[in-house]
Amino acid sequence: MTNATRASCVIGWPAKHSRSPKLHGHWIKRYRIDGDYRIEEVKPEDFPAFIGNLAARGYVGANITMPHKDAAFALSEPDARAKAVGASNTLWLDNGRLRSTNTDVEGFIGALDAAAPGWDKRTDSAVVLGAGGAGRAVVYGLIERGVKTIHVVNRTYEKAVEFRDRFGPSVQPARWADVPRVLAGAHLLANSTSLGMGGQPPLDIDLSPMAKDAVVSDIIYIPLKTPLLLDAERRGFKTSNGLDMLLYQAVRGFELWFGVRPEVTKELRDLLVADIVKT
Ligand code: ATR
Repeated sequence: MTNATRASCVIGWPAKHSRSPKLHGHWIKRYRIDGDYRIEEVKPEDFPAFIGNLAARGYVGANITMPHKDAAFALSEPDARAKAVGASNTLWLDNGRLRSTNTDVEGFIGALDAAAPGWDKRTDSAVVLGAGGAGRAVVYGLIERGVKTIHVVNRTYEKAVEFRDRFGPSVQPARWADVPRVLAGAHLLANSTSLGMGGQPPLDIDLSPMAKDAVVSDIIYIPLKTPLLLDAERRGFKTSNGLDMLLYQAVRGFELWFGVRPEVTKELRDLLVADIVKT
């Protein structure tokens, strides 16, 4: 541990496999910040006291990972994005107030902007697979960018209906059997389920009904290119993956804690890719 002026951390249980220290550590060095980023493994029962005492522990903020995102939301002042998603993954101290946001929204949108600049201008209709926590961040990001129709496909249909209640009439709930219909002419497909991740069932979807200049996004980063993304690439679609989301979701936290808006570079991406390939 150093005596750095400013420090942040990732709080989880467990947290030791988090890739956030590698990523924020790279930026701390690159921007020559007198700062530090650590891992804090905190049990659920100890979490309220821990975040109630962040400043005394030397922290200006924190990333929050499983299983603390709901508690972080409840115990802080959430911004509009955190409220929309119903969970907080980033905390910061603002003149003694413990505030929070959800940077997964920015991660999803930032990765899309990098992969397919201008995607939002041609996306009238998008399809989102999954209606869990990650799906909420994806759908809110699409709404922020003005996408008019968002088909939310979920195995448990009622959860897709809850999305419409939460986000309004631009959300159209759908079942897996509806996928060919809702994909017809769609400009964007985003997978927010774990299907296609190593060890999970595959995602079996025919992308041929999509618009010619469609974009396909996947939140998964192990493997880096899921079968869905490989199929999309073969069809000439632009793609965005879970690693890019991870990188872009980290930008806002770093800016809030250390006062510099960091850049997502090829060098940083390569560093993380090397780490993922090792596992
Ligand atoms: P997260 O916070 O990562 O989004 P989650 O809230 O548990 O995790 O959501 C997981 C999503 O993947 C849900 O949409 C889930 O569908 P259900 O709501 O029907 O459970 C979806 N999912 C997970 N495994 C699935 C499978 N085998 N087939 C279809 N959908 C699946």
